[in-house]
Amino acid sequence: MPVAAKISESIEKSSWIRKMFEEGIKLKAQFGDENVFDFSLGNPDLSPPIEFHDVLKKLIEKNDAGAHGYMPNAGFSDVRAAIAKKVSRDHGIEIGGEQIITSCGAAGGLNVVLKTILNPGDQVIVMKPYFVEYGSYIDNHRGETVLVETNGDFSVNIDAIRNALNDKTRAMIINSPNNPTGRVYTEKEIAALADLLTKHIEDTGRIVYLISDEPYRDIVYDGIHVPSILKHYTQSIVISSYSKTLSIPGERIGYIAAHPKGIDVGRLISGLIVSTRILGFVNAPALMQRAVARLTEITVNVDIYKKRRDLLMEGLKYAGYAFAKPDGAFYIFCKSPRADDVAFVRHLQKFNILTVPGSGFGGPGYFRIAYCVPESVIQRSIPRFKEAIDAL
Ligand SMILES: Cc1ncc(COP(=O)(O)O)c(C=O)c1O
Repeated sequence: MPVAAKISESIEKSSWIRKMFEEGIKLKAQFGDENVFDFSLGNPDLSPPIEFHDVLKKLIEKNDAGAHGYMPNAGFSDVRAAIAKKVSRDHGIEIGGEQIITSCGAAGGLNVVLKTILNPGDQVIVMKPYFVEYGSYIDNHRGETVLVETNGDFSVNIDAIRNALNDKTRAMIINSPNNPTGRVYTEKEIAALADLLTKHIEDTGRIVYLISDEPYRDIVYDGIHVPSILKHYTQSIVISSYSKTLSIPGERIGYIAAHPKGIDVGRLISGLIVSTRILGFVNAPALMQRAVARLTEITVNVDIYKKRRDLLMEGLKYAGYAFAKPDGAFYIFCKSPRADDVAFVRHLQKFNILTVPGSGFGGPGYFRIAYCVPESVIQRSIPRFKEAIDAL
């Protein structure tokens, strides 16, 4: 049966994360689950907080007429208002429910936004290394991804972005805390980026949106706060989800928040609503909307991730690996001891360790370790990480 050429190509290219996942299944069948150290997937292993369970039970018991019915495409208005309150607090600006659109996770939100703002051939700037799905999402809506370098410590390289801006640029996507580096951009970096984009709009008259994809906003360590783009730039759109903060990625619930002072924001919101409908999402899941609206102050226990991060950092240092300390999310982007990161990831597999090559994120020379795995897995993996590096 025929498949579109583009999808055929995507099947062939099938992401590294997927490849590792499949490799893991094979290794586990061969060596047993406990002898395989699978750090490939960013799939949170923690159970959702007990409050999520309690809220769901209550919502299900109510069984109100219409609770599971269609609704306005943007979502329930009380849910949008509850999310707006939390966004206002987190970002330090006043935002109303009418500027919030509920979405099917951050992935759904990104597709809705890109569908709404891109004309064919419009360019979207993305900093490397990056969450590779951005490329597919931009392509879905006939945009063109423009990749730019970051500095050696993965901080924002303003000159690289300045050089990438042109009269086709429509948006830039940033992701902080970052997958795969765990980096949180500083207030200074965000301010510099906002200044650059503001100047570009003044010079060219063309609006460039700054889109912040932040599903890991609440997963940060060492007292770090994630600076807000909304505070610095009015043409900004925040996309977030509860996949990681409530450990419910399978439930597909998130939101889009548009800056209330953005130029023609009403039209942008109308566009986001139409795109939600015509992309076939229709609306974000009803039950999940009601649940997250009651849980805006709840997150998984971030201390658990912090403990794992610290344990892994200590073990990797002892084993002889180099990496930058992650500020948030649950990834370490480790320098590959061999220039060829794909070869090194294959080498790690011989020690039953599954990671993802940095090349898969546009960051060759590195590999990503996702530490959303039990502490015991991290502990048992360290001698294997050491054996792997010693065997080179
Ligand atoms: C940076 C980034 N953005 C978006 C997503 C998609 O998240 P969601 O499950 O909310 O669609 C992920 C998932 O891993 C991610 O790492």
